[in-house]
Amino acid sequence: MAAQDWRQALQTVLQKYPRKESAVLEALYLAQRDKNYLSDADIRAVAEVLEMPVTEVEALVGFYSLFRRQPTGKYLIQVCTDLPCALRGAEAFYKRLCARLGLPPEGGTTPDGLFTVEEVVCLAACDRAPVAQINLQYYENLTDEAMDALIARLREQAQE
Ligand code: FES
Repeated sequence: MAAQDWRQALQTVLQKYPRKESAVLEALYLAQRDKNYLSDADIRAVAEVLEMPVTEVEALVGFYSLFRRQPTGKYLIQVCTDLPCALRGAEAFYKRLCARLGLPPEGGTTPDGLFTVEEVVCLAACDRAPVAQINLQYYENLTDEAMDALIARLREQAQE
């Protein structure tokens, strides 16, 4: 969605709110939706449309972990490696996933910009580890084979 598009969507959203600034989280979500992160220009644009100080919008972006400030792959793969999941093999699963995607053990973004892989803390599915959240959708009881099939499907989907 181009910058103009999210601004148009925001105009519709604004009609639901009594005050423009009440729509700030939804505005940031719209601004981030298609490229998976918020640039400085996006934050300034949201502040301008909502008539808010840029510093206030930046503070909200910093507070909520769902907002991202760095370029992020089309598919954000978040794997829980917290202790209960680590006891079910999630840490090793995560490292093998990174290796198969050609990433360092701590994760990162693939050179084609398709996948960003990162460790997260509890996703509230501790008994179904390894668990991954990919663009907000959960995948549980993962195996290397299941993850590879999923990645292949996402690669195909990205070309459609
Ligand atoms: S510790 Fe991993 S989902 Fe809870």
